[in-house]
Amino acid sequence: MEQKSILVGVGGGIAAYKSASLCSLLVKNGFDVQALMTEHATRFIQPLTLQALTKHPVIFDTFAEPNPSEIAHIAVADRAKLYVIAPATANLIAKLAHGLADDMVTTTALAATCRTVVAPAMNVHMYDHPAVQENLQILRDRGVIVMDPGEGPLACGYTGKGRMPEPEDIVSVIKALLEEQQDLEGLHFVITAGPTVEDIDPVRFLTNRSSGKMGYALAAQAISRGAKVTLVSGPTHLNPVPGAKMVHIRSTEQMLRGVQEAMADADVLIAAAAPADYRPVQVFGHKWKKSDGLPELALEETPDILATVSRSRREGQTIVGFAAETRDALSFGRRKLESKGLDMIIVNDVSQPGAGFDVDTNQVVVISRTGDVDTLPMMAKSSVADRILTRVKALRNSVDGERTG
Ligand code: PMT
Repeated sequence: MEQKSILVGVGGGIAAYKSASLCSLLVKNGFDVQALMTEHATRFIQPLTLQALTKHPVIFDTFAEPNPSEIAHIAVADRAKLYVIAPATANLIAKLAHGLADDMVTTTALAATCRTVVAPAMNVHMYDHPAVQENLQILRDRGVIVMDPGEGPLACGYTGKGRMPEPEDIVSVIKALLEEQQDLEGLHFVITAGPTVEDIDPVRFLTNRSSGKMGYALAAQAISRGAKVTLVSGPTHLNPVPGAKMVHIRSTEQMLRGVQEAMADADVLIAAAAPADYRPVQVFGHKWKKSDGLPELALEETPDILATVSRSRREGQTIVGFAAETRDALSFGRRKLESKGLDMIIVNDVSQPGAGFDVDTNQVVVISRTGDVDTLPMMAKSSVADRILTRVKALRNSVDGERTG
């Protein structure tokens, strides 16, 4: 197996001793393991134990910075394919849920862009406490994989749910996630994001509230699952997605051209952008002055990118659209699926709080042309993106199956 870097974050609970077995098992499975500990964890197990097993110095002092050419928590986060936090104590879970970063484990969690697995371990009553359960739900909603603790005798003397999941089970979850992560390898995704902008004159334009977050989340998730990605983006305030080929455009016409070019060797188009539907018939060459009177703003339709691309698609290309609706979302969505000749449409009711434009979460219904309807809960856009990609992959597999069977 190619060596993949796994971060193991160890919290300060009695189950910290099991992190030695976890590290040892990961190393035996061919992973490069970097252990991180909280200061409290070092009171339960010696860093030297994990260092001997992983062959890397264990990082537990946020300010130690052994290598002056890099910042430790950023460098290890960047190299990691996956971050597993085991044992995750109630305190550690609360800090992770609320973005606190006062030790090496939590600071690195904020810097890590890879998937995170949390393996809780604590007393049964602590685990059942609403505060802990709510914090775990926050993490799940953010896309973190939260493992169920095991049941049985606990170190505190109680018997119940709260034992750290067995290292063998954690390693199985890690291996499954890493395999799943590469399930889009060999596929080229073209993803559109953000608004388009239609100029009225050199200082004024027509646009909309799209931030690009949904499309950028799709691009980032597709890359982390092994896909090649071309991200055709309107103007946004977001950083380019590492690993994506960025095509920056401004108008709907330019977005159409960018998409057509990229589709030459693409397998999937996902149109998460909100292109302007109308543009001024005439763009004034100079700033329109108040003294010129009220401008006559005649509008015309912009090209429909999805409909155009879908008409000229090659066999095997999958075309996925979004529908941003404020009423009768499902029936309007279904109509767009038909009229634009799509394989799948992601319907979001953008009038719903926490969904649609310029927020970090979304609530969508995925409708495929085969008739499958999947209503997803409100989730972080990164998790929504992950679920959409899984649906796209499944649809492609079923179409491939039909073709060959
Ligand atoms: O960018 P965010 O702030 O994260 O917000 C996300 C989002 C709300 C923009 C996203 O979730 C979304 O719904 N994107 C589609 C927005 C839109 O234009 O919806 P629509 O129902 O008007 O268009 C239907 C589909 O046709 C869309 O896939 C759109 O990209 C596409 N379209 C629209 C106009 C046009 N001229 N050409 C197109 O291809």
